[in-house]
Amino acid sequence: MLTLDKVSARYGLSPVLSGISLSAGDGEAIAILGRNGAGKTTLLRAIVGLHPVHQGRIVFNAQEMTGRPAVDRALAGMAYVPQGRGIFPHLSVAENLRVGIVARRRRPGFDRTLPEHIFALFPALKAMLGRKAGVLSGGEQQQLAIARALLCRPSLLLLDEPTEGIQPSVVEQIEQALQAIRRELAISLLLVEQYLEFAWSVADRYYVVQKGSVVDQGATHESSMHEVAKLLTV
Ligand SMILES: Nc1ncnc2c1ncn2[C@@H]1O[C@H](COP(=O)(O)OP(=O)(O)O)[C@@H](O)[C@H]1O
Ligand SMILES: [Mg+2]
Repeated sequence: MLTLDKVSARYGLSPVLSGISLSAGDGEAIAILGRNGAGKTTLLRAIVGLHPVHQGRIVFNAQEMTGRPAVDRALAGMAYVPQGRGIFPHLSVAENLRVGIVARRRRPGFDRTLPEHIFALFPALKAMLGRKAGVLSGGEQQQLAIARALLCRPSLLLLDEPTEGIQPSVVEQIEQALQAIRRELAISLLLVEQYLEFAWSVADRYYVVQKGSVVDQGATHESSMHEVAKLLTV
């Protein structure tokens, strides 16, 4: 579904990503692991078209995406939940969700109503539709950001540190929602995480990024989380 072939990216003249190759298959959940500053956010931004690729290729569902604008990638089925969630604090929960719906107005079968499956995944949001998104807790805002991304009807959901700054009880709800998104909606996941236990329970495979390069990869069920954790302290 997604293939990166030796992708490099820079900020000005400074290299940030150096020859990253990775793949995500249909229905797979992939975790990108790495310390702060490793280049994880830049990698997701490059995949969704918000940061230019200097060298290498990005192919999504057999379509060449390298150099194409973010809107083309969204229309092709990528949805992105940025680090810090990117919700609009002064808009209501319902208005935030409608942004996700409007985003797919150019796709066939466009329908303005908020679909019930979103509230089946995130029941708490239904009671909060009229509330300003800015007053929600961190966990509720994360659920809103994921729900909004799902309204674009993606086939690949990219999430940047969805557990960051969220209390443990809500982390569990987010984990269950991601499992359901995968199993019931058949959406693939590409997840940046620093919370290893969470990554291990959600992802099939992982990549470790250090200083913009992949230094380790494997299947989570065949690999020791504790060995991988050592790579994250280097
Ligand atoms: N807008 C920017 N301009 C210049 N350098 C940046 C910018 N954003 C990030 N960087 C640098 O790029 C590197 C990777 O950042 P980032 O992708 O945010 O890493 P991560 O998400 O793994 O913490 C870091 O060294 C960071 O300081
Ligand atoms: Mg980051």
